[in-house]
Amino acid sequence: MSGKTIVIGACGQIGTELVLELRRRNGDEQIIASDIRETCPVTLENGPYIKLDVLDRESVRNYIIDNDIEQVYLLAALLSATAEKHPEFGWKLNMEGLFTILDLAKEGHLKKIFWPSSIAVFGPSTPKNNTPQVTVMEPTTVYGISKLSGERWCEYYFKQYGVDVRSLRYPGLISFGSLPGGGTTDYAVDIFYQAKLKGEYECFISEETYLPMMYMEDAIRATIELMEAPADNLTIRSSYNLGGISFTPKELTKIIQKTISDFSISYKPDFRQKIADTWPESIDDSVAKRDWNWKESYRLEELVDVMLKNVNISLLESE
Ligand code: SER
Repeated sequence: MSGKTIVIGACGQIGTELVLELRRRNGDEQIIASDIRETCPVTLENGPYIKLDVLDRESVRNYIIDNDIEQVYLLAALLSATAEKHPEFGWKLNMEGLFTILDLAKEGHLKKIFWPSSIAVFGPSTPKNNTPQVTVMEPTTVYGISKLSGERWCEYYFKQYGVDVRSLRYPGLISFGSLPGGGTTDYAVDIFYQAKLKGEYECFISEETYLPMMYMEDAIRATIELMEAPADNLTIRSSYNLGGISFTPKELTKIIQKTISDFSISYKPDFRQKIADTWPESIDDSVAKRDWNWKESYRLEELVDVMLKNVNISLLESE
């Protein structure tokens, strides 16, 4: 990578870890973190930070043009549960920022864009198991509708204007570096904090609900490998399926109990259960494997192990 890169939405669950890994690989000064927060979080203080509101199209355009930015990772978004509470704002935030960045690339100001999609693009009419890359997609959430629309626009800008935009349909992401916010899959992160803090957890997803998940390190590696893949190898310009591991809250609990034997879980499904019910249970990512040699590494036992060792409950207080 030669020119500078900006990560927009750098303070979120993915952004925090992506910035650090990109800086490790490319040098701290090359990777600019940006978010709507006034000040840079301590974890990202090893490199540049700029406050940007992705909805302020002019400021984003000026910053990117004036600073000769070549690549953008656009992560600012409302996730599934929050967007259901604020549908209009969810749609606005998730779409307008994407157009700002796609247009900059169309005008020749950017070389490459990464934009995340999600398993939320699928819906109740999608085959639930081993969900194929190309299939029925009738999402029922604002978040899912925005991600599916975004995917179609990414492909459109690639085909019509040659914009090099790349995307992954992330499954639920599990990490300890920073807290997730507003997602349906967040239970699979919360559970570790509560297991350590209280030894018990009230789960908002029912015990038998399978959802596809992935450990963050794998997700970051997938993101960077996709961005580094030769453009000619990529046959998908909407968004690639990414599989990971599928499990239920009950299965996750059993594995946590191997380390914290008196950990207990109770179930109180809320509106997020209805969202989860419309999503796939497992994902077929054979096209990603074929096109850019994707291979996941973490299995469930390893993921639980690393989470229990590293989750820091003081993060809960700092939020
Ligand atoms: N993890 C996200 C959510 O639950 C899905 O992309 O909203």
